[in-house]
Amino acid sequence: MKVLSGIQSTGRPHWGNYFGAIQQYIALQGNEQSFYFIADFHALTSVRDPKVLQESTWNAALDLLALGLDPKRATLFRQSDVPEVTELMWILLTVTQHSLLEKCHSYKDKVAKGIPPDAGLFTYPVLMAADILLYDSDVVPVGADQIQHLEVTRDIAQRFNSIYGGEYLRLPTARVLEAGAKVLGTDGEKMSKSYGNTIEIFDADKPLRKKIMSIKTDSTPVEAPKNPDTCLIFSFYKLFASPSEQAALADKYRAGGMGYGEAKQAVYEAAMNYFADARARRTELANHPERVEEILMEGATRARSVGQQVLDRVRTACGLGNHRVK
Ligand code: ADP
Ligand code: TRP
Repeated sequence: MKVLSGIQSTGRPHWGNYFGAIQQYIALQGNEQSFYFIADFHALTSVRDPKVLQESTWNAALDLLALGLDPKRATLFRQSDVPEVTELMWILLTVTQHSLLEKCHSYKDKVAKGIPPDAGLFTYPVLMAADILLYDSDVVPVGADQIQHLEVTRDIAQRFNSIYGGEYLRLPTARVLEAGAKVLGTDGEKMSKSYGNTIEIFDADKPLRKKIMSIKTDSTPVEAPKNPDTCLIFSFYKLFASPSEQAALADKYRAGGMGYGEAKQAVYEAAMNYFADARARRTELANHPERVEEILMEGATRARSVGQQVLDRVRTACGLGNHRVK
């Protein structure tokens, strides 16, 4: 099984990225092929400062390694180190219907949140399709927000195959975990770097506590019973706690006499504990930048050698270059 996924370098990874996607990357590494990349071409649709983009890309690599991505079992690379992907994107654009892209929620949501509606943002799903199809991927671990983009990818691949009359592109499927499919942000909407409502995995101790403590809750008095199932704070606790710990806190909610401050403190402690090892690994890795760069370069070499073969197949299928159609 060939696994592939990407994460944009638009800021530091957050709890949504971890429970929706990164946790799956780690679980699936070591498959026949496991390719993970930092989507810096995609990040260009929202990051306009070169220093910020470079820093974010670098940090994302460090974060993924610290969270357990093992370069001996998985290939980690920067999207922009494999320029073949932009060539494939162009070819795919020529078989992509405008109306298909017009339906994409992610584009409409981002524009509604004030991201400029550039052609790059509009055609973002086609670059994503190229990312996936370039490596003959079977399975793409993602959060629920990306399911539609996977459908678009399949649609484009099918259209290409049908126009050129062959199984040139492999159809991938999304892999979404039920528990982490849609992690909510501090405002109760989907947690997203584009929406400014994130809690970052590697936030330092004090800012992390401050962020959790300042999440808005309703004004139910301390004495009153509370409903854990509709509480944002409890939804965070569930990410980190075992079933018995969840049941114990849920009982406290229902019994009354517990304020939201106590639940927030429980979330903070559970999160610190959960990511303690990753924090230590990150500090250690940050002292060896040359090692991280080496991992990224080796990753790009491996990814390119697979990508070039698929691109060659596609170029031949559509009559580009000096390949004679048989
Ligand atoms: P963001 O939306 O914050 O910019 P990315 O687009 O880089 O994050 O997403 C990287 C991965 O994390 C994708 O697989 C995406 O589905 C997943 N993901 C992002 N936000 C969430 C969330 N709130 N809940 C679950 N998964 C998420
Ligand atoms: N669009 C994805 C997101 O916003 C990131 C991404 C880019 C991606 N290319 C991909 C995810 C290929 C999976 C496969 O989260």
